[in-house]
Amino acid sequence: MQSASEQKIKELEKANRILQKKLERSESLRLALEETNEKKEALFLKVIHELRESQKILEEQSRDLEQTLKKLQTMQSKLVESEKMSALGVLVAGIAHEINNPVNFIHGNITYAAQYAHDILELLQFYQNFYPNPSPSIVQKIEAIDLDFIKRDFIEILYSMQNGTQRISDIVRSLRTFSRLDEAEIKKVDINEGIDSTLMILKNRLKNRPNFPEITVIKEYGSLPLIECYAGKLNQVLMNIILNAIDALEQKLDSVSLESNLSLSSFTPAIKICTDLIDNWISIRIIDNGTGIEQEITQQIFNPFFTTKPVGKGTGLGLSISYQIIVESHNGQLKCNSIPGIGTEFEIMIPQQLI
Ligand SMILES: Nc1ncnc2c1ncn2[C@@H]1O[C@H](COP(=O)(O)OP(=O)(O)OP(=O)(O)O)[C@@H](O)[C@H]1O
Ligand SMILES: [Mg+2]
Repeated sequence: MQSASEQKIKELEKANRILQKKLERSESLRLALEETNEKKEALFLKVIHELRESQKILEEQSRDLEQTLKKLQTMQSKLVESEKMSALGVLVAGIAHEINNPVNFIHGNITYAAQYAHDILELLQFYQNFYPNPSPSIVQKIEAIDLDFIKRDFIEILYSMQNGTQRISDIVRSLRTFSRLDEAEIKKVDINEGIDSTLMILKNRLKNRPNFPEITVIKEYGSLPLIECYAGKLNQVLMNIILNAIDALEQKLDSVSLESNLSLSSFTPAIKICTDLIDNWISIRIIDNGTGIEQEITQQIFNPFFTTKPVGKGTGLGLSISYQIIVESHNGQLKCNSIPGIGTEFEIMIPQQLI
């Protein structure tokens, strides 16, 4: 017979065994859980690592894409502009060529015509000296046609015709200088002459403007040696920068005339062009007293397709192409200084000797 206490001990031992087993089971469960947690954590870290790697690859790819896009934009702008300029060049050269022959013909013949007129008038004088008393019908005719006036005016007319054809010849020469299609690409040229030919082409935009005062052009040309450069391309840069100056002046005139008529009369739109030779560098400065450029956009003006002009007026290519021509083709520099509301200065620097 077991005593009650022995019975109690046995029960306690049994309960203890059960508890021990439960403990062992939960311990192995805990170990299994720990193991899966570790696995999960390792998996998690691996996934994060892979994600980081693919993010890096994506970033690289998007950088590549951005660069390709920029390259494409630059190429596109070069194509558009060179297409535009070569079309303009061909047109200008064609017109110049067509006008050149007849003008030379007229200009050359006027010299003979003036000589003949001179001879005939001399002969007339000769006759008048020999026959001081002509018949009444001749006297009547002399009075009817006002021979004295004709004698004075005839030669003057011929001289002014000669001046006119000389001017046409000058314009034609400027057109040819501007288009430079008849010359090799790199050439020694007179930069001041290039500026003059560009101004001649833009004369219509500078003068004869209804409702707008004429734009004053101030030239301060230094004496420059002949410069080896891509003359046609350089003229293209000059044209882009001068056209921008004209646009800025017109825009300022528009805003000034909106304010009041009084300030319009006190504002003289002007473009100053200075050339200089400084330490083997040619400097061309084009200064206008137009709108100026706001500080926050000065960084962007050389970017392709950046424009503040209305659609259809500006493509935003002028300055980016000019920058390429000066910096890449001529190893030069193109700088811009501007004070909003006061005006803008562009400075082109090119080495005297194309390196
Ligand atoms: N002299 C200037 N005065 C004021 N703003 C200027 C001047 N020159 C350039 N800019 C500014 O720089 C921008 C870019 O000039 P850019 O010549 O490249 O293009 P655009 O004149 O707008 O168009 P495009 O020349 O292709 O017809 C202009 O839209 C204008 O805002
Ligand atoms: Mg422009």
